[in-house]
Amino acid sequence: MRILAIESSCDDTAAAVVDGGRVASSVVASQDDVHRAYGGIVPELASRAHMTAITPTIERALDDARVGLDDIDAIAATFGPGLVGSLLVGLCTAKALAFGRGLPFLGINHLEGHLLSVQLEAEVDFPYVALLASGGHTSLYLAHGLGDYERLGATRDDAAGEAFDKVAKILGLGYPGGRLIDELAQSGDPAAHAFPRARLKPRKGRSRFDFSFSGIKTAVALHVRGNPGGEADVAASFQEAAVDMLINTAIAATRDAGAPRLVIAGGVSANSRLRERISAEGAAAGIDVVIPTLRYCTDNAAMIGYAADLRFARGERHRLDLNARAIADLERAPEPSAP
Ligand code: KG4
Ligand code: ZN
Repeated sequence: MRILAIESSCDDTAAAVVDGGRVASSVVASQDDVHRAYGGIVPELASRAHMTAITPTIERALDDARVGLDDIDAIAATFGPGLVGSLLVGLCTAKALAFGRGLPFLGINHLEGHLLSVQLEAEVDFPYVALLASGGHTSLYLAHGLGDYERLGATRDDAAGEAFDKVAKILGLGYPGGRLIDELAQSGDPAAHAFPRARLKPRKGRSRFDFSFSGIKTAVALHVRGNPGGEADVAASFQEAAVDMLINTAIAATRDAGAPRLVIAGGVSANSRLRERISAEGAAAGIDVVIPTLRYCTDNAAMIGYAADLRFARGERHRLDLNARAIADLERAPEPSAP
């Protein structure tokens, strides 16, 4: 099956052609230039930029795959979670294409795309624990199989990527901040400052494997206010503390779940220090760690096409009245339905 997949949940417009489960093309149009001046994503501008970029991005994905719309068997798009104005652009385009061409359509959860993205490049058998760390989410899931995901923990406040972005803003580095912190940290001392590693007390109804990133962000802000300069050391020390929290919690959760492997996904899994440390620390704990290449860590449509390929193969379809959802629980996918 040859699928055209569209992803527009946040600030990247992406389209891909996935052919028999393999990526034939994957195009991502970044909106960084649109949002840079504001130091963060402006939702209304994101929607408008998606409107401008969606058609050329789809055309490039088709061109790169050397196919036309006539060669496409099915259409998929992210339905949530994300910014609703952004989601609607990709989702409505996908539904219009499916309607106009009489093709089957499927909405995919963005988080499922990230969670399966590691399988784009390697044979990774279920079960595995996935650390999903992006600008909007930081969670741990035990993936038993396709569509069978158990949440082991999640952030109680900020997402990891949000903390990277906010610290970059505090340091005056610009936007998007995660990559800039990563680059600046290369020339800093990760032991220069002992920023706090949140240790969450077990609470009723809360997981032992939750995260918290708001305290470290405040600690960095207070430090910078009292001690100007030394940005590289601050960036490296913040990054070290954030990576400690991610790795320690992910490994503890994987051991507790008795899963043989841990995969990482989402924009923060592009972090060089996280990538450098997690394999060795996983191996020391008897856990095989699988890391996607950079282009599949950040938002892309190939991961949406891949998830769609697996679900289409099970006979799943969605009706064209499937709506965009700002919040979309990974454990409860919308019911597949005959069109
Ligand atoms: O998955 P993603 O592309 O979009 C969302 O679904 O949010 O993740 C974007 C997040 C941003 O917060 C960005 O700063 C962060 O991932 N990020 C990084 C790095 N590259 C991107 N964080 C740390 N180190 C990086 N190298
Ligand atoms: Zn994402």
